Amino acid sequence: MNMLGEIIDLQSLEDSRGGLVVAETQRHIPFEVKRVYWIHGTQSGVERGFHAHKALRQVAVAVSGSCYMVLDDGIDQTTVHLNSPKQGVLIGPRVWHVMSNFSKDCVLLVFADMHYDELDYIRSYDEFTSWISK
Ligand code: TYD
Repeated sequence: MNMLGEIIDLQSLEDSRGGLVVAETQRHIPFEVKRVYWIHGTQSGVERGFHAHKALRQVAVAVSGSCYMVLDDGIDQTTVHLNSPKQGVLIGPRVWHVMSNFSKDCVLLVFADMHYDELDYIRSYDEFTSWISK
């Protein structure tokens, strides 16, 4: 089992021209990527997430700007400040997560190991706590 809020260092190549960051499956992303999506233009004060997944594994990277993510496995909680395009956070299955404090320029890029499936979501915290105690 992965550590709650595990940070993944991506490969960062920087020179006088600027930066280039690499995320390779197996080397940085610990699964085969089936879907990529990104959250952008988040309005001030908005909080997103408020769900867990039954099986989905994801890695989220703030490729621009910053935001906070609270991860909660039902026992422990941790808060991660995503503020580097060179690092991602692993969001395992059965982890309730909430994103907040998006900077205006935040682009949160997410790699996922499954296609979108609403049936994989747990969108109520009560349902989450009973699911994880099974
Ligand atoms: P959701 O995962 O609930 O994002 P957040 O918790 O940040 O609000 O997704 C928001 C909406 O977008 C929801 O109706 C499901 C839909 N959606 C897709 O259709 N495909 C996707 O890959 C994702 C991530 C979301």
